[in-house]
Amino acid sequence: MFKYASHPGLKAHADNLPVHVAIIMDGNGRWAKRQNLSRTKGHIQGVQTVREVIGACQEKNISVLTLFAFGVENWKRPTKEVRNLFRLFFLVLRKDIAKLHENSIKLKIIGDRTVLHKALVSAINEAEDLTRHNTGLQLNIAVNYSGRWDLLNGIQKLMKDPMSKKDINEDAISQVLSLAGLPEPDLFIRTGGVQRISNFMLWELAYTELYFTNTLWPDFNKSAFELALNDYASRERRFGLTAEQLG
Ligand code: FPP
Repeated sequence: MFKYASHPGLKAHADNLPVHVAIIMDGNGRWAKRQNLSRTKGHIQGVQTVREVIGACQEKNISVLTLFAFGVENWKRPTKEVRNLFRLFFLVLRKDIAKLHENSIKLKIIGDRTVLHKALVSAINEAEDLTRHNTGLQLNIAVNYSGRWDLLNGIQKLMKDPMSKKDINEDAISQVLSLAGLPEPDLFIRTGGVQRISNFMLWELAYTELYFTNTLWPDFNKSAFELALNDYASRERRFGLTAEQLG
């Protein structure tokens, strides 16, 4: 309730739903192995979950959803898997963009694009341009992203500007990050049984409620998402205050 004063368009939900949910989608590979399928088939199934969770966010009027699709450390995976993952992003982007637009979803891709394939960068630019003025769910997808990259990149921008050099404070840093202007995540979810932040949104997760589940991403359906939302709703967020101060 304190965090959104500067974001008049994004008010906290009365029924204790998060405004911004950030997710690390983990477990596609293990899901595929269990079904005797290739890892790529696991990622393909993971895309179905992405669609289901987007639908659930729309239904519940969640304003912002940020998904970690590919981290800078993921380049270390087998070349074939990396190639297939990027092929999948490209195909999904091309295939789903009209539907996202119809649903008034505003898409933003965050991460270092300088090393991405030209065709993918063009598809990203087109998708962002098409959906720029949409007013529904804000969908952020992190591709070749890391929280440290984002901070470093932002601080370098600040250092280049002689005006800002004198006055580097928390607000100034928040304003040069990829998700500047959006409220910080209220709820962070990581599927796949691992309890780590893995270099995701390091600055923005400072006060976020963390939720970890053993469910593998392809199995993370709407009811699993609702369990996470219910867990979040039961938590008391203090932002450093005492329980008494919160009344
Ligand atoms: C983690 O599972 C998943 C990824 C590194 C890729 C996530 C990508 C998708 C869900 C599909 C594409 C998404 C969009 C938004 C188009 P893992 O491979 O680390 O699984 P494991 O830990 O079981 O091996």
